[in-house]
Amino acid sequence: MSLFTIDEKLCERDGICVAECPAFVIEMKTKESFPTVTDGGETRCINCGHCVAVCPHRAISLARMSVDQCPPVDDGLALGEDQMEQFLRSRRSIRTYKTQDVDAETLTRLIDIARYAPTGSNSQQVQWLIVPTRDKVVQLTALAVDWMRNAIEEKNPIAEAYQMGGIVRAWDNGVDIISRGAPALIITHGPEAYPIMTIDSAIALSYLDLAAPPLGLGSCWAGFFMAAAGSWPPLAEALNFPEGHKSFGAMMVGYPKYRYHRLPMRNEAKVSVLK
Ligand SMILES: Cc1cc2nc3c(=O)[nH]c(=O)nc-3n(C[C@H](O)[C@H](O)[C@H](O)COP(=O)(O)O)c2cc1C
Repeated sequence: MSLFTIDEKLCERDGICVAECPAFVIEMKTKESFPTVTDGGETRCINCGHCVAVCPHRAISLARMSVDQCPPVDDGLALGEDQMEQFLRSRRSIRTYKTQDVDAETLTRLIDIARYAPTGSNSQQVQWLIVPTRDKVVQLTALAVDWMRNAIEEKNPIAEAYQMGGIVRAWDNGVDIISRGAPALIITHGPEAYPIMTIDSAIALSYLDLAAPPLGLGSCWAGFFMAAAGSWPPLAEALNFPEGHKSFGAMMVGYPKYRYHRLPMRNEAKVSVLK
C-alpha cells in the first residue's frame, strides 16, 4: 500500500504538502504533477499527519491517517491574545484538594488531551499510569517517605538539600507535603533507553497541567514523588511498569478546594539579542 494517496479530483497541485513535510517525503516532479513519494520517503515518514492537516482541499490521506480521521480546525474556538495570556498566566500549581475522587472518565479525558503534546520525531513514546484513589496515592507516597527516611539515615546530601527531615516529620504528623492530599496521581513512563524521554514526558505533563482547569481540575508537579520513583526500588516496583520502562514524571490531580483570584508576579524575562 502506498504511503499516501492523492485525490486527483481535489488536489490543486499547490505544493503546500511538499513544502510542509518535515522529512522531505513528498515531491512534485513538475509543477503539473501530482505529489508522489520521494526516494526513500517511506522510511523517512514520521507519520506526523502534517500533509493531511495542511492541505486546504482535503486531497491527501496517509495510509495510517485518512483525512476523514482528522477533524477540521474550528476557527470559532481559537483563543484571542488576551484569552491566551489569561489562560497561561492563571494556571496555578494546586496544593489543596477536595477529598472527592476524580472519576476514571475525567482522568482519561485529561490524558486524551495531553497525548497531543509534541514528541521528538513524533515518536509518541510517553505512556501513562493513573493512580486513581487517595488510598492508593497514600500507599505510594508512604514509599516515597521511606526513600526520604533512607536518605536521611545515609546522610545523603539530597536529604538536606530537599529538607527531607521536615517532610518526614510532617508525614508522621499526618501532613502530606509530597502528594499534598491529592486524590489522584498521573505518572508518565517510557523506555529507559529512549534518549529524549525526559523532555517528551515534561512537555506531555505540561499539556496535562494546562488541560486540567477547563475540566474543573487542579494539578501540581509531584517533584519529590518523581525523584523517589526514579531512585527508590520499592516505589519503582510498586508502580509495576513494563520491562525496560521507568517513570519520567508525575502530576498530582484533584478538584481544587480554593479558587485563585489574581495573577502573581514573576521575574522579568532575562533576554539578550545576539548581534
Ligand atoms: C519540575 C517541577 C517539580 C515540582 N515539584 C513540586 C513538588 O514536589 N511539590 C509542590 O508542591 N510543587 C512542585 N512544583 C510546583 C512549583 O513549586 C510551582 O510551579 C512554582 O512554585 C510556581 O507556581 P505556579 O505553578 O502556581 O506558577 C514543581 C514544579 C516543577 C516544574
